[in-house]
Amino acid sequence: PYRGIVMETRIFSNKDIEEAARILKTGGLVAFPTETVYGLGGNGLDKEAARKIYAAKGRPSDNPLILHVSKMEEVIPLVESVPEKAKLLMDSFWPGPLTLILKKSAIVPLESTGGLDTVALRCPDNALTLELIEKAGLPIAGPSANLSGSPSPTEASHVYHDLAGRIEGILDDGAVGIGVESTILDMSTERPTLLRPGAITLEDLTEVLGEKPDIDPTLLGKSMEDGFVPKAPGMKYRHYAPKAEMILFRTLEHKGAESKVRESMAKYLEEERGDSFQKKIAILCAEETKPLYQEMAEKKNIRLKILGRREDPLSMTHNLFRILRECDEEGINLILSESYPEEGVGFALMNRMKKAAGQKIILIK
Ligand code: TXA
Ligand code: MG
Repeated sequence: PYRGIVMETRIFSNKDIEEAARILKTGGLVAFPTETVYGLGGNGLDKEAARKIYAAKGRPSDNPLILHVSKMEEVIPLVESVPEKAKLLMDSFWPGPLTLILKKSAIVPLESTGGLDTVALRCPDNALTLELIEKAGLPIAGPSANLSGSPSPTEASHVYHDLAGRIEGILDDGAVGIGVESTILDMSTERPTLLRPGAITLEDLTEVLGEKPDIDPTLLGKSMEDGFVPKAPGMKYRHYAPKAEMILFRTLEHKGAESKVRESMAKYLEEERGDSFQKKIAILCAEETKPLYQEMAEKKNIRLKILGRREDPLSMTHNLFRILRECDEEGINLILSESYPEEGVGFALMNRMKKAAGQKIILIK
């Protein structure tokens, strides 16, 4: 439950950046657009602002925040040092969807880093937000601007739905492009380690680093029950989840197995779910596979939700969280979904889909 002050949440446009910056400078909260998802911004150097952010989101305060900067130089006072390889990555990918973890300096409050001696840094690729950071003259602490537990917001209306009354304003820049959160790479350790996959892919990182980064074992299916704890504290929560039960259907090979997936969903609905006619069901599929499901959807009164084009995983990340929120709005209580190859951006797509499904996957032989 929210225990903070209830306030009017204003919608800001590009004309109000000065006002939004003023609110941040005086300790208030303003949600901001990025190329990935909307963030919930506050002064990154103010522990009171950090407390307000946790209260507004309903998020546990051991979950560290990302500090957003408008250029590379602004990182210098926030960290112990910037290793050569981190510099190289910033040069290659900033502004862009890559968050780097470095050893923090003393001016970054432990309240923003969940008590860790490291800090997450990112320079988002959004013109309004870069201007907002510059005008505020501060690093902006920003987790995704959703209530803890629900999918990250990809439109200002999603932020309003979750946080109206809890924050001073939302800087509206329409729908975001990428739709899933930034790639997180830990550069504070001996070897670079991927903590969260995003639109900057393993392949992209490998090319610039000259070697493949390590991958947090929990991203490769090692579970917390087996004693593996994700190093990014936020990755341990059942995140990004719709209210509905969600199940992923996957085959070992993706190509040529499309109709097998449909058969398996149909069988599941008939056998395992004798009661499924009472449920509001949605199927998530791709533009290419939509025709396969149309007859079944009409007969069983199932909603078809088109994620995007299979050949272009970014078109699917763009829509995923919006569609999960739509399912909630429509009162869907069972979501059956296709799976996609985990290469390139597909790794990030499937990571979020598995989380949304609470790791419920039916493997089709
Ligand atoms: O695309 C994004 O990164 C968006 C936009 C708003 O920039 N932000 C975002 O923030 O996704 P959030 O708070 O929802 O996710 C940040 C993740 C969490 O899983 C957190 O545990 C991890 O980053 N993290 C932050 N600081 C860390 C640190 N020092 N060490 C390890 N993980 C860290
Ligand atoms: Mg988040």
